[in-house]
Amino acid sequence: MTGTIWLLSGPNLDLLGEREPGVYGTMSLDEHVARFTELAASFGCGVHHVQSNFEGDLVEAVHAARATADAIVINAGALTHYSWSLRDALAAFDGIRIEVHLSNPAARESFRQLSTLAAVVDGTIAGFGATSYDLAAYAVRDLLGARGQ
Ligand code: DQA
Repeated sequence: MTGTIWLLSGPNLDLLGEREPGVYGTMSLDEHVARFTELAASFGCGVHHVQSNFEGDLVEAVHAARATADAIVINAGALTHYSWSLRDALAAFDGIRIEVHLSNPAARESFRQLSTLAAVVDGTIAGFGATSYDLAAYAVRDLLGARGQ
C-alpha cells in the first residue's frame, strides 16, 4: 500500500502537553505526530503535518492537499465547532477525510456539541486520547485498501 496522509492540527494544539493535561493528556503535538507518522509508515503511507492557529491557513492547507494527498486526518480544535469555511474546504477534497479528537466533545460543554465537519468526513474518532490518532491511521489504511491503493 502507498499513500500520502495530510495530518492537520488546529488552534491551540501546538500547546498539547502543557494545555489542560487532564483533558488532553501529556503528550506534545510533536510526539503525537511522530507516533502517527511511524504507524502510517508501517503500512506504507507518508505523512505531511500542518499546524496552525489560523482558520485561513487550514483552509489553504486543505486546498493544497487536493493536489497531493490521498487522505486528510484533521483535528481542527475549536474550529470544529464553528468553522463553515473549513467544512466547505473539506467538502471540496475528494480523498479520505477523518475527523479526530483527543477528548470526547459530545461529553463536554454544549458549545462542543456541534461539529461543522462531521457531515463531510468519512468518520469521526473522539475520546481515546493518543489512541484516537492510532485509530485514524488504521481507518485510513482500511479505506485506502478498500480503494485498492
Ligand atoms: C479537541 C476538542 C475541541 O473541542 C477543542 O477545542 C480542542 C481539542 C480535542 O482534540 O479533543 O482544541 O479537538
